[in-house]
Order: sequence, then structure tokens, then C-alpha cells
Amino acid sequence: MNRVIFIMGVSGSGKSTIGELLAKDLDIPFFDGDYFHSESNVAKMSSGQPLNDKDRKGWLETLNNLAKRQLTKNSCIIACSALKQKYRDKLSRNIVNESKWVYLSGSFEQIFERVNKRSNHFMPSELLKSQFDILENPIEAIQIDISLSLENIIKKIKSNLMNTSEFGLFGLGVMGKSLCRNLVNNGFKISMFNRHVNDLEEDVATNFKAQFMELSNAIAFDNISAFVNSIQQPRRIMLMVNAGKTIDDVIEDLLPHLSENDILIDGGNSNYKKTKERYEYLKTKSIHFIGAGVSGGEEGALKGPSIMPSGDIEIYKKVKLYLETISAKDKNNLPCCTYVGPEGSGHFIKMVHNGIEYVEMQLLAEVATILEALGQNPDEIANTLESWKDEVGSYLLDITTSIFRKKESNEWLVNKILDKAGNKGTGNWTTIASAELGVPSTLVASALFTRYMSFYKKERLQLNKSFKKGNYVELKITPRELFEAYQFARIINHYQGFKLIAEASKSYDWNMNLSEVARIWTAGCIIKSKLMEDLVETFKKTSNLLSNKKIINVINQYKPSTKVVVLQSILNNISTPALSEAIQFFNGITTAYSSANVIQAQRDYFGAHTYQRLGDTSKKNYHTNWK
Ligand code: 6PG
Repeated sequence: MNRVIFIMGVSGSGKSTIGELLAKDLDIPFFDGDYFHSESNVAKMSSGQPLNDKDRKGWLETLNNLAKRQLTKNSCIIACSALKQKYRDKLSRNIVNESKWVYLSGSFEQIFERVNKRSNHFMPSELLKSQFDILENPIEAIQIDISLSLENIIKKIKSNLMNTSEFGLFGLGVMGKSLCRNLVNNGFKISMFNRHVNDLEEDVATNFKAQFMELSNAIAFDNISAFVNSIQQPRRIMLMVNAGKTIDDVIEDLLPHLSENDILIDGGNSNYKKTKERYEYLKTKSIHFIGAGVSGGEEGALKGPSIMPSGDIEIYKKVKLYLETISAKDKNNLPCCTYVGPEGSGHFIKMVHNGIEYVEMQLLAEVATILEALGQNPDEIANTLESWKDEVGSYLLDITTSIFRKKESNEWLVNKILDKAGNKGTGNWTTIASAELGVPSTLVASALFTRYMSFYKKERLQLNKSFKKGNYVELKITPRELFEAYQFARIINHYQGFKLIAEASKSYDWNMNLSEVARIWTAGCIIKSKLMEDLVETFKKTSNLLSNKKIINVINQYKPSTKVVVLQSILNNISTPALSEAIQFFNGITTAYSSANVIQAQRDYFGAHTYQRLGDTSKKNYHTNWK
């Protein structure tokens, strides 16, 4: 493919010298942009006046035409200061994919000294300063430090031009591997890296490449420097490593090999506060950072996950093509990947996604427990869940149905699994974030604490023996009532999850679009469902889903069943924390005069914390001597 290589930088950075040398080396024509000015521009410059945007317009068009003409025959090199992004946009108009940028970068002092030394005449510092003033660092360029020797500069540019990988994937665990295959299946040229750990992780990338035909064009590495050097600048490298300290370690390992303006994308389940810290830290190193929540597990990563990226919008644009192409597509064939907002907002919504996921899972576990108490065996439970499929349309319902069908040596597998639920922290963080932001996300807390409770297996066994559970009554719950309670609780779960996002967006000034968040969760991710599809429309009109007429009707219709299910469960000693909490929360949030008046009086009694009075609009604080 023919390419035009634009060499840019302030005057004195060495564009012509380097352009000529490189052109000779590559055996392609070189054009010095300075020779393509109109007569009027030349006259203006000769009289010592700087050119303005208007003067440059025609000149940039001339160079763009030259590049286009050249491309029909051959590659070429054009040297041009191209200090502003809009100049560069003009130069590469209609030839963006064929344009390569080389930016000769140096400090003001360095270039000033160099120009004066070289040309033996004094260059006015104001002139150079005016160039630095308007210089907008290009993101899309091979960055060259002009203090390198000419030989090394040419070598570096050439090796970069030869690099064919446009995307790097760091960390070949289950998710990383699936994303690699997804990227290559979408036609991207990638480099893949996995570390070398003696006896544990040896030749992981090479073996992975050998395993799949489709990876024949991908390049495999276990050497960081070679991996980084194989990727076109500015580099786009996605990290798929364990969240937590590993991310920081990997960043430190990568930093010495990266160049200014390279972009790191963290695709793990990282804590959103850490993402902000990393974003800020990397800014000091001139490296860009995108925190991207990725949902969908191994299969999603391979066939199209839901991706939740955040950071600087301009940087997102540089990775958008890759992330949006590999993501799942919604019912209108739009990517389930969109720019979420600044700093850690992408990881924040991924965290809330997981909080919603915890509750959806817990609700299904409770539903199954009740069905079992009603006398259904796992196959029958699966049948009941399957009969809800059309109305619920949820991934988690589908997999739970399959789980209850699965047999091992003619016995249901689900009944052989130790009842201790693990977690990797996102439900914990959602609960903490809710508490910090003052948002009552009671369901995720309840789902989380139920997982924690499951861990007390030994104590549960002891207490089960110590406490008699009393008389059982006949469990009177119909499958329809259970279905309605489940759907009721799901609405409350989604209300709480989106409320948390809305409040965080307000507090942190993230300006998030709830409808878009719901939309990118309609395919590819773990919590995709029919309800999520409805919410895309709901959130176009309101940020409070409980104010939506259709939802109000469903809640009113399903509440009686929810009461029956929770009451009957309590009477039969069946633990249903999430279903119970859903109705408790609903009763609380719809109570006009709550019991908080008593709390306020108690606080004032023992601590003189004061209280306000109903009807007093001055918001005056009262204190009473209660004794
Ligand atoms: C997803 C999942 C994924 C993962 C969670 C499980 O969206 O693809 O949420 O991120 O399965 O980390 O979390 P726990 O281990 O905490 O249940």
C-alpha cells in the first residue's frame, strides 16, 4: 500500500534533513512543504509577518492534493510544520488511512540553541516561541526525540513504519485470549504478550498462536520490549491482567518501553478510584489511560462483549474503532460499547453492572430454593424457569435453567456443589460506593452479605442443629406468584443500580447517559435482559425508572404476589434476603412519613444533634431538653 509520510515539527526541528535522508533510504520522493507556498504567502513571510490560519488554508490544500496525486503512483515523504490538529486534518483529508505522521519533538531551549548554532545566524526567540505556542502535540504520530543521532532517528522511524501491529493485547488469560481471537477475526493485525514464568507460564503466546489458524498473522511475544516495539505508534495496548496490584506492576514494567502519547487500556475489573489514580499518574508520564469495563465472560470476549470505556474523549476516539468493532451489537446493530465518561466512570459502571449481577443471581438462587421447597426436583425447576424465558429474556435466567438440567453420572450436578459463594470484590466495592455516596443500594448489600454468610458453613451447620425451626406450615406459593415476585424484585434491583449511577454521575460531574448505559448492557454482557431493553427507552425520558407509567403498573400488579412469596417464605423458615429486601425497600421508598422522626429525636436527646420541624421552611435546627 502506498503511504504518505508527513514529517512535522516546529521550524528547526530537522524536518528537511530527516525527510531527505529517510526518502533516500526508502527510495521514495521527498517534498519540502516550504516550497509549495503561494507567492503572497512568500511575500508575507519575507516581510517578517507570520502566516495566519487563512493564509495556510490554500497551502495545506495544495499539499493535500500533492499527497493524493503522489499516492496514485508511489509513497512519498512531505515535510510540513503542521503544528495544529486542524492543519493535520486538512493535510490528510480523504487519505487518513494512507497517512503516517512522524513528529520531531524537542524542547524550546534545545531547538533554539540548535538553530542558532547550525545556521550561524540568530533566530528571533519570539518566532520560535510563537510556533511552540500554537503547537498541539499530535496523538496519532511516531514520536521522535530529536536529541537522538540522525542514524538512530532514521532507524527508529523505519522500524516504526515497518511495524504492522495496530493493537497490542497484554495478558493471555481466558479473557485476553478470547479478545485476541475476536480482534483478528475482525481483521486487525495484533501483537500478543504473555509473561514468562519458569515452569508455570512458558511460551504461552507462541503456543496460543499455534493453536488457532486465525492467529497466523498475529505476533506472539514473551519479551516486553519486543512486544512494545512491534506495535505502531501511538501504541494501543490493552491490559487483560488481574485487577489490583498486578495492573500497577504491569504499568511499571511497560513504562520504560512506551513513548509519549501511547495509550493503555485496562480491560479488567479494576476499582474506579484506582483507575482515576492511574489515569493521573500516567498523565505525568505523557501516557494516556482508558479504563474499560468488559463484560460477557469468555464467550462474550470472543463473540462480542459489552465494553464500557472511559477517560479522555479525544483518546477514546483513537481506540474507538477497535473496541466498537469487537463489541457485541444491540438490536439495531449498534455497538454495545460507547464512551461512558471521564476518568474511572467506565469501571464505575462495570462495578455497578456486577452489583446488579450479584442481585440477579441471588434472586434466581432464592427462586430455586422456593421451587425446591415446593417439591420440584432440579429438572422441574429448570422447566419452571424455562417457562419464564419469553417474558424475562435474561442471560442469567437462561444459564440458571441449564445449570439445573446438568447431570453428572446420572445425578444433578447442582446438588453436589459446596454452598460457599466466592467473589472477586466488585459487589463489595458497589456496596462501599453506595455507602460513600449516600445511596440506599440495599439489594446489592444484601446479595453480597448473603455470599459472605454462605462462608460460615461450619457455624451454619452447628446453628442448624441448635435451633429448632418450629412448625412448618404448608407452603402456599404458586409458580405465577413466584414469577411476579421475581420480576418485582428485579425492577427494584435495576432502580437501585441506575440510581447509584445517576448519583455518582452528579457527584463526580461525569455527565453519564443512563439510556446509553442501559443500551450497551442489552447485548454481550451478563445482565442483558428484556427489562434492560425497556430501560433504554425509559431512561430517554426520566432518570427515575419508578416514575415510568408502565413500570408503576407492573409494580402495582406484582406487589401482592411479592408479599405472599416473602410472607410464606418467612413462615416456612426459607431464607430470602433479596426478595424480602426488595419489598422492604419498596415500602420504605414509598412511605410519606417515615420513622426517621424518631431517629432524629433520639439523636437530639443523647447528643443534642438537633432536628428540623415539619412545615418549617426556614430549615431551622431545633434542640429540645427532653428530660
Ligand atoms: C462479567 C462478569 C465478570 C466476572 C465477575 C464475577 O460481567 O463478565 O461480571 O466480570 O464473572 O468478576 O465476579 P465475582 O467473582 O465477584 O462473582
